[in-house]
Amino acid sequence: MFSLLPKLAPPLSKTALHLPKSFSTTTPQPQDTTSAAAILTNLILTSTNPKSLTQSLLSPSINWTPRLVDTILKQLWNHGPKALQFFHLLLHNHPSYIHSVSSFDHAIDIAARLRHYATVFTLLHRMRSLRLHPTPKTFAIIAERYVAAGKPDKALKIFLSMHEHGCFQDLHSFNTILDVLCKAKRVEKACNFFKVLRGKFKADVISYNIIANGWCLIKRTNRALETLKEMVEKGLAPNLTTYNIMLKGYFRAGQIEEGWKFFLEMKKRKCEIDVVTYTTVVHGLGVAGEIKRARKVFDEMVREGVLPSVATYNALIQVLCKKDCVENAVLVFEEMLRKGYAPNSTTYNVVIRGLCHKEQMDRAIEFMDKMRDDECGPNVQTYNIVIRYFCDAGEIEKGLELFQKMSCGDCLPNLDTYNILISAMFVRKKPNDLVVAGKLLIEMVDRGFMPRRLTFNRVLDGLLLTGNQGFAKGILRLQSRCGRLPRQFKL
Ligand SMILES: *[C@@H]1O[C@H](CO)[C@@H](O)[C@H](O)[C@H]1NC(C)=O
Ligand SMILES: *[C@@H]1O[C@H](CO)[C@@H](O)[C@H](O)[C@H]1NC(C)=O
Repeated sequence: MFSLLPKLAPPLSKTALHLPKSFSTTTPQPQDTTSAAAILTNLILTSTNPKSLTQSLLSPSINWTPRLVDTILKQLWNHGPKALQFFHLLLHNHPSYIHSVSSFDHAIDIAARLRHYATVFTLLHRMRSLRLHPTPKTFAIIAERYVAAGKPDKALKIFLSMHEHGCFQDLHSFNTILDVLCKAKRVEKACNFFKVLRGKFKADVISYNIIANGWCLIKRTNRALETLKEMVEKGLAPNLTTYNIMLKGYFRAGQIEEGWKFFLEMKKRKCEIDVVTYTTVVHGLGVAGEIKRARKVFDEMVREGVLPSVATYNALIQVLCKKDCVENAVLVFEEMLRKGYAPNSTTYNVVIRGLCHKEQMDRAIEFMDKMRDDECGPNVQTYNIVIRYFCDAGEIEKGLELFQKMSCGDCLPNLDTYNILISAMFVRKKPNDLVVAGKLLIEMVDRGFMPRRLTFNRVLDGLLLTGNQGFAKGILRLQSRCGRLPRQFKL
């Protein structure tokens, strides 16, 4: 039987919460917070009885701190409903503990991601009634979620109404809202808003850099250049960050020779070229397939006494995987270790993807184990990469096995994980795979992820075709609850 929520830990009785010994002392050590958080997260995930969960969480042996609450909320990130249940449980029932601003910010972020906007505003009001003031960061979080949900106008509205919640707009929050819009590629909207309000907020170099970066992100390097011109006309001097943005823009837009000329011009004008500049050129040339030139720039950088960063190595390893060969990428990875750099999760994920792509799944898994030893993962992206390649290679059982591992560990599956696995369930055309797809669909909805209408319809069709009318009806009811009913159906 496919277990939807595998037992994470032996069931805990109502009262016996086995927290680390020193945990109830007044100053818990960092690792105590980590292990206590892991235990409590498992308890919250496995609990099916809200009453006994409340009792356990209110036990006086637990010394709630903002750090503990925040750690648990982060671990429950990909199970939004449980995270909010936990947050509310403490908020409403604990006799003395009061949530911190940062925990409120996490809860608001999760509620907004689930598109529970009423909860977002209830929490905002609750913060004020507790005299915890929402900060500009709180509003940046809400704005970002609105933009991600395709509602940029709501994002602007929340920014403009900040003062009604006791938080005043300033240049910094203005720059933040511009950045949120630009990073989501709503550059035209950001630019219009910017032009209306730049005088009022006294836009600075950072503001102009944000707008230029936005244009570069959507490959409109001409508009980025115009922004730079406007900047100079307003008496603001572009700085190295500005030039690096422009450089990256050229490479991103595939204007390799323009990028190269710009780089030479930067050198000629004796700009203090930094590690970001070099990393941009190494990556840009590499993506364009110019591996030799990329390597040359990497060597030049070292010669010029600019120390490569982890990001530089990540860029080089990535382009070697994509445009050269994975063996050379692994060599650079090893060189990185020899030189005393600590690879981060991005480094590992790039190497792992490279190995998977060359069908070296065993070595990919070895690197995954190395990540564990290095205490930098594996994270959900790592799992998604490996699961996807297993499924693409028809090794669906192995993909499902890894998925099961995620559910028992400290890395819960996200929307991509579910989409990858559900798609894989159609490959073998086995009736049982479709049942698994249906169960995955139920589980993802339960965890606050909204499947696309197409996903619902595919699973539904599959179940009907394989004669599983009963289960299909259940899925149809779920689809109706989610408001994703196909047009031709009436319940
Ligand atoms: C240039 O502007 C950016 C903001 O976009 C700022 O973070 C950076 O510190 C500035 N750099 C210098 C060298 O002043
Ligand atoms: C790892 O390095 C990349 C740069 O390549 C950076 O963007 C990322 O934030 C780093 N990740 C962590 C977890 O520090």
